[in-house]
Amino acid sequence: MRILSGIQPSGILHIGNYLGMIQPMVASQEKGELFCFLANLHSLTSVFDAKKVSAFSTEAVLDLLALGIDPDKSVFWAQSDVPEVTELAWYLSNVTPKALLERCHSYKDKVAKNLPANNGLFSYPVLMAADILMYQSTIVPVGKDQKQHVEVARDIAIKFNQAYGEVFTIPEPQIKETVAVVPGIDGQKMSKSYGNTIDIFAPENQFKKKIMSIITDPTPLESPKDPEKSVVFALYKLFASQEKIIDMEQKLLRGGYGYGDAKKELFSVLWEHFLPFRKKREAIAGNLDYIAEVRKKGAEKARAAGTPTLQKVRELVGVKN
Ligand code: ADP
Ligand code: TRP
Repeated sequence: MRILSGIQPSGILHIGNYLGMIQPMVASQEKGELFCFLANLHSLTSVFDAKKVSAFSTEAVLDLLALGIDPDKSVFWAQSDVPEVTELAWYLSNVTPKALLERCHSYKDKVAKNLPANNGLFSYPVLMAADILMYQSTIVPVGKDQKQHVEVARDIAIKFNQAYGEVFTIPEPQIKETVAVVPGIDGQKMSKSYGNTIDIFAPENQFKKKIMSIITDPTPLESPKDPEKSVVFALYKLFASQEKIIDMEQKLLRGGYGYGDAKKELFSVLWEHFLPFRKKREAIAGNLDYIAEVRKKGAEKARAAGTPTLQKVRELVGVKN
């Protein structure tokens, strides 16, 4: 079993990313062979400032290492450090019907949100297919929004295998139904693009400020409150112990307990949860040599795993003499 997933460093990682993708990835490290990479080439479709691309990438590497991605137990690299993947994307492009890409919701959504309708954005799923297929991945854990892209990768693999010979493993998407959509501070899905995130490693005052600004209804302090309608409680349930959850639920139902107090309890549970990760992050943050070394070793491992497939594809399409 080869589990592969990537994350775009297109902003600062938040607790939605943590529960939706980072935590499951860390858990899968123990179960099988994890390939985890920073999709920095993909982030170029939406971030056009080199300084930001570079800074977000470094931050994301630190975040992922601090949160438990172990470069000794997994293959952890940056996409651009194995640029051969873009070569494979080109071979795949030539068996990819334009209509298949035209059906992708993500492209249409991003253009509707004013991202430029460039070829990079349009052919984003082909590069994603190359990421998956080059490493013969069997399982691709992704959020619901990425399911269609994994299906495109399957279609491309099938087409290529039919046209040139069996070379690619057909990957399966793994959708994490159990992790409900983590709500943001405004109650919508938490997302970098909505500006409603709680960033995992924000400084304490900002972290607290975000939590204190979570949307609440105007029920007076003394009145009973419906826990199921509270964003604060929804977030609390994702991190607190069973005992604490029941305790807060009862206090809300009973009344005489305000959202301000609930937010303070949420802050303390979240702060405690991330404290060991924060300490680990602080310990590695100053060590840029270590980060460079992790990237270099990871790229070597990824390249070694991907090269045999790429060589075979080169032969099959006729560019290797
Ligand atoms: P964003 O919406 O902040 O731009 P991405 O689209 O880059 O996040 O998502 C990266 C990963 O994190 C994906 O696997 C996605 O499913 C997961 N993810 C993002 N936001 C949430 C959320 N609010 N709840 C659960 N998972 C999320
Ligand atoms: N498109 C994915 C996202 O935005 C990131 C990604 C790029 C990816 N290549 C991948 C995910 C390959 C899984 C497999 O979340």
